[in-house]
Amino acid sequence: MKQVYLDTYGCQMNVADTDRMELLLFHSGYIRTGEVKDADLVLINTCSIREKAEQKIYSLARNLKPLKEANPDLILGFTGCLAQQEGERFLEKLPFVDLVIGPDGVEHIVRVVDEVKNKKVSVVRTQFDTDISYKIPELSGETPLNPGSTTFVNIIKGCDKFCTFCVVPFTRGREKSREAEEIEEEVRLLVSRGAREVVLLGQNVNAYGKRGLKRSVPFHELLYRIASIPGLKRLRFTTSHPKDFTRECILAYRDIDILVNHLHLPVQSGNNRILNEMRRMHTIEEYISIIEELKTVVPDMGLSTDIIVGYPGESESEFEDTLALMSKIKFNNSYMFSYSPRPNTPAQDFPDSVPPSVKSARLQRTIELQKKLTLEQGKLFLGQVVDVLVERESYKPGADFRGRNAQYWSVNFTGDRKKISIGDMVKVVVEDATGHALRGRAI
Ligand code: SAH
Ligand code: SF4
Ligand code: F3S
Repeated sequence: MKQVYLDTYGCQMNVADTDRMELLLFHSGYIRTGEVKDADLVLINTCSIREKAEQKIYSLARNLKPLKEANPDLILGFTGCLAQQEGERFLEKLPFVDLVIGPDGVEHIVRVVDEVKNKKVSVVRTQFDTDISYKIPELSGETPLNPGSTTFVNIIKGCDKFCTFCVVPFTRGREKSREAEEIEEEVRLLVSRGAREVVLLGQNVNAYGKRGLKRSVPFHELLYRIASIPGLKRLRFTTSHPKDFTRECILAYRDIDILVNHLHLPVQSGNNRILNEMRRMHTIEEYISIIEELKTVVPDMGLSTDIIVGYPGESESEFEDTLALMSKIKFNNSYMFSYSPRPNTPAQDFPDSVPPSVKSARLQRTIELQKKLTLEQGKLFLGQVVDVLVERESYKPGADFRGRNAQYWSVNFTGDRKKISIGDMVKVVVEDATGHALRGRAI
C-alpha cells in the first residue's frame, strides 16, 4: 500500500474531514503514516479563522518544499479552509504544491489525487458542491478508523450567519443539513463499533433542519431521535448560536437524560453595541435569559464560550462589559481571541482602531479572569461524586485513567485497571481541582 501523511489544523470539522479523507484514501490503496518522510502523499488540512492560523500554514508549506524537491514523485496537497480562501493564489505563492482543495472537495480527494498523478499537473478545486442535499456516502467494508469512546458526527455544514468578522461562510459555503435518518444510521454504526458518546458537529448545529432536507426537522427533534439509540450513554453538540437557541432545546436538556449538562455557547462580546456591529443578531439580555432559563431547568449546567477582544472600535468600557459578563455567567471555560481581520469579511474594511498592544493587554485580562473563574468553578466539585466517561489511560503521574464529567471537565483519576475499561461510565470522587482538570478516585 502507498502511504499518506495527514495533518490537521483548525476545528473539529477539519478533524472530521481529515478522517473522511483517510477513509476514502484507504479504500483507494493508501494507509496513513505518522512519518512525513515515508509518505507518497502529504495532505495538510488547513484553517483560516485568524491571521495567525494562516501564517502558520504558509510557513509550514515553505518548510515542506525540500521534501518535495528531494522526492519529485511526492504529491503535496493543501485542503480545508485556507485552501478554499486562497485557491489559485496558493499555487502562485507556492508553485511546488500539487493540489489545493476546499472543504467541499473532501469527497473528491481520490479523483483529484489521481488527476495529479496521471496528468502531472497541479489541480485547484474550490467550487462548492451544487447538490441541494448534504450526504456523506457510506463506505462499507474494512476501515482503519475505529471511534474512541467519544466521537464526532457531522449534522450540518456551512454557515449562513455572516458575522462580520468571520471567514467561515466564505470557506465552507451555505448551510446544509444531513438527513436525520443518515445521521441516526451513522450513530448506530459508531455505537456498534464502541462509541459511547456522540458529539453532533457543525458551525451552527442549532440551525439544523432547515436547508437541504426533504422534510424540515428541528434540531431538538434530532436530539430526541439520537438520544433514543440503544447503547449511547452521552450526547453533546457543538457549536450552537444564541440566535437559534430555542425554548424546545432548553427543554431537551430537562427531558433527555443522556444530553450532558454542558453547553458551549459563543457570546463574543459582553456589549450590545459591539454585538450589533458584529451582526450577531441578539442582545446580551437575550443571551443572559437563555442561560437563566437553562439554569432553572438544569441547575448544575456547565457553560463555556468564545470571546473576541479588540474588535474594530471596541472601547475600554465596552471591553470591560465583556469581563463583567464573564464574571456574571461564571463560564467554566472560554476560548479567547484577539480580533484579526480576515479576507472577504465586512469587518476587514472597518478601521482596525485598537492598537495591537491594547488588544494583547485586553486578551491577557480575559485570560487572567477566566483562569480565576475556572479555578473557582472547579473547586465547587471538591468532595462531589461525578460520572466520568473513560476516554483513555491518563498521562498524569499518579493517575490511571482520564475522562470527562458531564460538564466537560477533564478528570484524571485512580482506579482498578482490572475492573475499569475505556468506554465505561465510572463514579469518581473529586479530590483536587487544578485549573482545567479535576483529580479524583474511582469508587
Ligand atoms: N460557529 C461558531 C464559531 C466559529 S469560529 C459560532 O458562531 O460561534 C470559532 C471562534 O473563532 C469564534 O467563535 C470567534 O470567537 C473566533 N473568531 C472567528 N473569527 C475571528 C477573527 N476574525 N478574529 C478573532 N477571532 C475570531
Ligand atoms: Fe462564523 Fe458567525 Fe457562522 Fe459562527 S455563526 S461560523 S462566527 S459566521
Ligand atoms: Fe478553521 Fe475552517 Fe474550522 S477556518 S476553525 S477549519 S471552519
